[in-house]
Amino acid sequence: MSGIYIHVPYCKRKCDYCDFYSVVTSEGKAGFATLVEKELILRGDYLPDREIETIYFGGGTPSMLESAQITDIIGAIAKRYTVSKNPEITLEANPDDISEELLKGFRSSGVNRLSIGVQSFSNLDLKRLGRRHNALQAIKAVSLAYKLGFDNISIDLIYGLPYSNSAIWKENLLQAFDLPVNHLSCYHLIYEEGTPLDLKVAKGLVKPVSEDQSVEQFQLLQELSSMNGFIHYEISNLAKEGYFSRHNTSYWKQIPYLGLGPSAHSYNGTSRDWNPKSISKWQKSIENETISAEKEVLTSQNKLNDYLITSLRTVWGADINLISQDFGSDNAKQFLHTAEKYIKQGVIEQRDSIFRILPKFFFTSDGIISDFLAV
Ligand SMILES: C[S@@+](CC[C@H](N)C(=O)[O-])C[C@H]1O[C@@H](n2cnc3c(N)ncnc32)[C@H](O)[C@@H]1O
Ligand code: SF4
Repeated sequence: MSGIYIHVPYCKRKCDYCDFYSVVTSEGKAGFATLVEKELILRGDYLPDREIETIYFGGGTPSMLESAQITDIIGAIAKRYTVSKNPEITLEANPDDISEELLKGFRSSGVNRLSIGVQSFSNLDLKRLGRRHNALQAIKAVSLAYKLGFDNISIDLIYGLPYSNSAIWKENLLQAFDLPVNHLSCYHLIYEEGTPLDLKVAKGLVKPVSEDQSVEQFQLLQELSSMNGFIHYEISNLAKEGYFSRHNTSYWKQIPYLGLGPSAHSYNGTSRDWNPKSISKWQKSIENETISAEKEVLTSQNKLNDYLITSLRTVWGADINLISQDFGSDNAKQFLHTAEKYIKQGVIEQRDSIFRILPKFFFTSDGIISDFLAV
């Protein structure tokens, strides 16, 4: 089983905090689906198997494509791979793009999961983040999607915002639980280098929240989501039973995926590849029938570290039997030695061969995980 990711590199305007690759022009947009199909053919032997379980349209802003383009891309995949009987097909949508016509088109093209970029239900937050929608548009977008038959809806929210506070964050969460949403992706704000928001911090115009406030907001997220029946299954992801993101989960479980489009990453069990962050370079290489992706062949140590970084951020944890079998007894011993310290502190729990960081310590998991990494 494998997944396919399509990066749609267009935005109507860049948000102040975001450094995902996208352009605000329509360079190559009309022919985007055709180029993706050509790349799919060029990379025909990349994946180790032919069965596709998940397809994910991410961005940028996939909801800026016409539904006919989404239909063409899904059709092109189905022509060359066996798409499983019950695939998960996700599309990221911005609230202000959403209309009845567009959603109906996406549904009939096969999209069965929407990830809506709400970010906040506070109009002040949205304005300060440089978003182009308001809270009411976000609420209407979710409700309309549900009304039109999307029963697998996720929303993105950002906490730890500089101008915000725990009371606003709590209101955001309560509003989310009031909507027909069964998955939440909640990210702590990252000041990505060189973004307008980062530059404002450097100039002293914006003051990041304190560590204490960040922790408080994380705890609010855990308490309220658990009270509302959500399971915190990965550091930034929470869902009702049966609605975990299958595509993202496959990244954390080392399942191969092929990434198409500028800046898309791929993984096939032996290497990681990444496409150029440039529409023109990507387009030119496809037209010349060459592959523009750069490649890193993974060593056993890379693979072990990838496994630890991804598995320890989830409720499924790391399996000592797998570490011993795939990476040898010395690595297993080293893992157990480090784990012992955290078990004594009550941070890691062991059940049979599985070791997992308790969700209440997810917020500090980066520091814990770095202790486990092989150097
Ligand atoms: C690549 S964006 C695409 C989603 C869509 N274009 C939108 O904006 O609604 C995916 C998500 O990443 C999150 N994100 C992007 N930059 C971030 C940052 N600097 N810190 C935290 N979250 C961020 C946002 O929640 C966003 O919805
Ligand atoms: S958050 Fe979404 S809309 Fe905003 S710049 Fe990033 S990809 Fe584009």
